[in-house]
Amino acid sequence: MDTMTSLSYLISAICFIMALRGLSSPESARNGVLFGMFGMALAIVTTLFHDTVEGWILPLFGIALGGSIGAVIAKKIDMRDLPQLMAGFHSLVGLAAVFVALSAYFNPVAYGIGTVGDIKLNSLIEMALGAAIGAVTFTGSIIAFGKLQGLISGKPVQFFGQHKLNAALGIAMIVFIMIFCGTQDMFTLMLIVGIALALGILLIIPIGGADMPVIVSMLNSYSGWAAAGIGFTLENTLLIITGALVGASGAILSYIMCKGMNRSFLNVILGGFGGDDDANSITAAAGDRPVKIGSAEDAGFIMQNASSVVIVPGYGMAVAQAQHAVREMADILKAEGVKVRYAIHPVAGRMPGHMNVLLAEANVPYDEVLELEDINRDFSQTDVAFVIGANDITNPAAKTDPASPIYGMPVLDVEKAKTVLFVKRSLGTGYAGVDNPLFFNENTMMLLGDAKTMSENIIKAME
Ligand code: TAP
Repeated sequence: MDTMTSLSYLISAICFIMALRGLSSPESARNGVLFGMFGMALAIVTTLFHDTVEGWILPLFGIALGGSIGAVIAKKIDMRDLPQLMAGFHSLVGLAAVFVALSAYFNPVAYGIGTVGDIKLNSLIEMALGAAIGAVTFTGSIIAFGKLQGLISGKPVQFFGQHKLNAALGIAMIVFIMIFCGTQDMFTLMLIVGIALALGILLIIPIGGADMPVIVSMLNSYSGWAAAGIGFTLENTLLIITGALVGASGAILSYIMCKGMNRSFLNVILGGFGGDDDANSITAAAGDRPVKIGSAEDAGFIMQNASSVVIVPGYGMAVAQAQHAVREMADILKAEGVKVRYAIHPVAGRMPGHMNVLLAEANVPYDEVLELEDINRDFSQTDVAFVIGANDITNPAAKTDPASPIYGMPVLDVEKAKTVLFVKRSLGTGYAGVDNPLFFNENTMMLLGDAKTMSENIIKAME
């Protein structure tokens, strides 16, 4: 590789690192995206000028076609559909890895890795691994897309001996990779791809719909490693670096999500936790316990007479798309001298940064948005905790009940506020399926209804 190409690739790689760094905070996210765009443009131009590229028509046609499809999708996509969009895109990266591996196998001379039947051993290993990881990513991402898009049921699909079957297929795949590296046999390579395609489906079907964000992040990681595999086959250092960056960041993100939920990665992978997010019965958890149920007028009155309000958004706010109404409500309170802040739990909603994205979309000032560790101590000096569409992230069972599936998960101490207002449609559970004892506390008032309608009614009442 000549010096100019190496230098350009190095600058692109630095831009990608800056992009990841920028995306770690809402304030720097726009700059992060710009770094990513510049890095990618530079990488494409550098590759087009490389002497191994023969003719520009086909690559430019591919870029124009893919770029146009991407631009149309990006313009049209609803924020709530981002996880399935990611899953859909990852499936294409997986498929690309399989095709690159196959084309290198059938035309090794073009890749400078030997001749048919006499391919270098390291290239055979890269090829087999790239094809296997790519095929798992392809079918796994398609199942994830189907579950998230509601095309197939989000409920975990489990059957007897499932994990043993997966383990056997995994071992068989490794054995066939070893055989392939020794024989270079085409049928063995096809067998590896076939097993990997089946594994992708089998690994994802037992996962509950609500665990999909972790799986999408994991598939993101797989697609990165598959891309790095392609990079080795194509002897393209930038693709290796970029693939490794995507692979590592996806793995770290999956780890952070599991840590935030206090669950092991294995527990998520083995599946069966959480199903469809059905609305729960209003009486589900109540039994004979008294519950204070209030109205929008009550909530408006309490908050207008408070000096501080902390808004705690959760999954229900995202579903109802209530963020704009919530911001409008906060604006009215602020205009009346009430101190308003937002408390964000690391796993509120269903994807990392879910609440930050929604609040940014509603133009909530960044300095009013505080992370769990920065706001938790303040609840005891807060007049009103306004919990909207959130449940598990406030559940004190995480602190007190060792038998609870969420035990050990850090939670927002909303119960320490003078008054806790809960906006949700029922007394039912959230994602983890655990009853929330806070609904029955003396200082809690339930505001039962859709998050957006309730917020709009509170605004009307306050005006
Ligand atoms: P949840 O505990 O799932 O609670 C959300 C609540 O919103 C539900 O109890 C539901 O109650 C209510 N709701 C649903 N639709 C609503 C609507 N239209 N209007 C008003 N309320 C509505 O959510 P959370 O507190 O945000 O906690 C997140 C959970 O997801 C955690 O358990 C976390 O571990 C898990 N999780 C998070 C992630 C990431 S990365 N964020 C990834 C995977 C899993 P009703 O049915 O009574 O309305």
